[in-house]
Amino acid sequence: MKFLVMNGPNINMLGVREPDIYGKQDYKALCQLVRDTAAELGDEVELFQSNHEGALVDRIQEAFGKTDAIVINPAAYTHTSVALLDALKAVGIPYVEVHISDVTKREDFRQVSFVRQAALKTIMGQGIEGYRQAMLFLHDHLAK
Ligand code: DQA
Repeated sequence: MKFLVMNGPNINMLGVREPDIYGKQDYKALCQLVRDTAAELGDEVELFQSNHEGALVDRIQEAFGKTDAIVINPAAYTHTSVALLDALKAVGIPYVEVHISDVTKREDFRQVSFVRQAALKTIMGQGIEGYRQAMLFLHDHLAK
């Protein structure tokens, strides 16, 4: 199967960015973990990161008919973007929402997630390991 692993704004700053909240591992380490997980599962994976909402919408649309499952950390757009939810619903590709931090224990403005509405599952507070868990879950889910 083929995965698309997507990350929104400022995830490229991992390692540097608020390490007490997001950990010391950088975006390169996240990409490596994702690639290793795909290899372990015998799956294909593409990674995409953007700081721009429209670029994320475009990438979701491009995945239509070409990708079996999406792992998405929309980062700050989680809490604001109806466009990302609509794009995910439009393509109908099963997806898991991932957050590195546990957003339920953070500010009020992080308590809303638009993409959660149609997600198969949400994984949060597991650091970058959450991406691996999301991929294992989707692999099993689609094997059924
Ligand atoms: C995040 C949580 C969001 O609230 C925040 O805006 C991010 C990262 C996380 O992975 O914990 O940029 O999605």
